[in-house]
Amino acid sequence: MAVDPAKLEQFMGRIVGDMGSAISAALVVIGDQLGLYKAMAGAEPLTPAELAARTGTAERYVREWLCAQAAGGYVDYDASSGRFRLNDEQTMVFADEQSPVFAQGGFQVLTALFKDEPKITAAFRSGKGVGWHEHDPALFVGTERFFRPNYNANLTSSWIPALEGVEQKLRAGARVADVGCGLGTSTVIMARAYPRSTFVGFDYHEPSIVRARAAAAEAGVGDRARFEVSRAQDYPGTGYDLVALFDCLHDMGDPVGAAAHVHQSLAPDGTWMLVEPYAGDRVEDNLNPIGRLFYSASTMVCTPASLAQEVGLALGAQAGEKRLRDVLTQAGFTRVRRATATPFNLVLEVRR
Ligand SMILES: C[S@@+](CC[C@H](N)C(=O)[O-])C[C@H]1O[C@@H](n2cnc3c(N)ncnc32)[C@H](O)[C@@H]1O
Repeated sequence: MAVDPAKLEQFMGRIVGDMGSAISAALVVIGDQLGLYKAMAGAEPLTPAELAARTGTAERYVREWLCAQAAGGYVDYDASSGRFRLNDEQTMVFADEQSPVFAQGGFQVLTALFKDEPKITAAFRSGKGVGWHEHDPALFVGTERFFRPNYNANLTSSWIPALEGVEQKLRAGARVADVGCGLGTSTVIMARAYPRSTFVGFDYHEPSIVRARAAAAEAGVGDRARFEVSRAQDYPGTGYDLVALFDCLHDMGDPVGAAAHVHQSLAPDGTWMLVEPYAGDRVEDNLNPIGRLFYSASTMVCTPASLAQEVGLALGAQAGEKRLRDVLTQAGFTRVRRATATPFNLVLEVRR
């Protein structure tokens, strides 16, 4: 051992910061559950007692929570008045459900991962999978809430227009399948934007499909968006003009089988929009904050989910475009084009 004290100090400084971030996650969820952030959004700077009174919570807890939030830069503190406020950027991240950077869903997911840790630890030993459905339900609602701002911001304004001729078809009236649709948010967003088209969302997870049906009814698109419990490898129907898979191909045990099924379900000139987590092809391309998030989620959720299904290919959430192309080619597709990308997603246009 030849420990460099300066390096060690720097590293420990980082670890203390990381531990602070990790423990803050529980506090963020508490603030979300109790409406603390929302009560601060747009309000004048508040004392702990004022925030407690507005949210029906106990002042002593709120005071400690606010101090922790201020120490992490999640709220601002004015020492001269002893008051706390949420600035505009913090409001967008913590309080505004419509903002493109609303992050509460991500924190909700983290609570599920901590609860599920014993299952994943056991799976490391056994090598067996842990199905998506075996996770704490906070994963399902947290994932939906985490992805929704991204889909609201990009799906109909950027991703669909980036596909050749698809927007035109959807405006005129097309048949669309959203496979691995989860709670159906992407399906509902598309159904709202393209009222002449018809949409069917498929997912093997029944509780998600039940919620998706309710979401479509609530959004007033129940006439054109329906949902069925079905697997990507054998969902019903053919002749789809557009098949979409959002952030789910890598979760499947048999992505080649799923891709082959998409192939046969598409209309001859149909398009598959494949949205996957953004990743470079090499490990070293992904050793950055987003790669850290995705590799971690992949260890806890995506890789075990795939290993729990037949074949168990376990692509992982950082498969990268080259590996995805291999899957698509094996399934019989000949035309694959990167239509667009965001820091979080790769959007591939896949045709026969
Ligand atoms: C990360 S979630 C994404 C959900 C949704 N597409 C979204 O973007 O919010 C992955 C989804 O894939 C679904 N899934 C996993 N394997 C599947 C399979 N073989 N067939 C159908 N759905 C599957 C899960 O049930 C889960 O809803």
